[in-house]
Amino acid sequence: MAQQQTLGWEEIADYFDGRQGDEGDLWHRGLINPALLRVLGEVSGQRVLDLACGNGALARQLARKEAKVTGVDLAPTLVERAQRRESRLVGTPLGIAYHVSDAANLGQFAAGSFDVVVCNMGVLDMTDDTAQGAFKETARVLSAKGRFVFCTQHPCFEGNDTAAWVVEKMGRTTTVWRKVARYREHYEIVNNWRVAPGQFLQTISYHRPLSWFVGSLREAGLAVTAFEENEPAEEFIQQDNEGAWIKEIPLHCVIEARKLA
Ligand SMILES: C[S@@+](CC[C@H](N)C(=O)[O-])C[C@H]1O[C@@H](n2cnc3c(N)ncnc32)[C@H](O)[C@@H]1O
Repeated sequence: MAQQQTLGWEEIADYFDGRQGDEGDLWHRGLINPALLRVLGEVSGQRVLDLACGNGALARQLARKEAKVTGVDLAPTLVERAQRRESRLVGTPLGIAYHVSDAANLGQFAAGSFDVVVCNMGVLDMTDDTAQGAFKETARVLSAKGRFVFCTQHPCFEGNDTAAWVVEKMGRTTTVWRKVARYREHYEIVNNWRVAPGQFLQTISYHRPLSWFVGSLREAGLAVTAFEENEPAEEFIQQDNEGAWIKEIPLHCVIEARKLA
């Protein structure tokens, strides 16, 4: 079984929970979630496992669509925040079950326990071994023909130091380029979060090429059945400078993979 990795996520849990709030931040609301929810489709009555659930923003959204939701995250403080946010909701309780757990070790769930496993911006934060362990555990806990749907940084265009925007003005024409290096390599990306003025904390994410995702899913018994490249909503374009460029070149993608047998 893959080893549990050290997390920057526990250290930035307070900041991340505040940033996401009850409904998710601008990046989630205006860029990441719409494509993920479109690929997920109808979830009413389905048993859904939200892997790497963070503060539960997506779990709550899916529970409101009448899915029976379980959330799992490795950072205890984020799980506690998810539970606290749900306990403060006014109205019908959502009944989400939460567990502190490594996505690569889901021993508390029996084989075939879920119809859908979803993972929103979680796979990118797992080492190759952990992500491959998570794919295998996902295939085990899914029912026959169950679906794994995840959103991640787009492997072809991501990278803090290995990809950059080039906005070139030629006469009346503006061309947006995305230049990319080291695409085929596997490497760490250090993400700096400005948690307070002058105070930065780090999390690590991992780049690997697109073929690694398809091959690793296939090895786990999951075949890719849908692929979407996230487009920014108008809200995002209005409020974030990168919006217009992301409209031309996607920085995120959603992959659906179905259990083969
Ligand atoms: C970018 S956050 C996304 C959180 C949430 N899904 C969202 O979209 O707001 C990445 C999450 O992955 C979790 N995580 C990282 N490695 C994990 C692992 N091996 N098992 C479970 N959760 C993990 C972190 O604790 C963190 O909550």
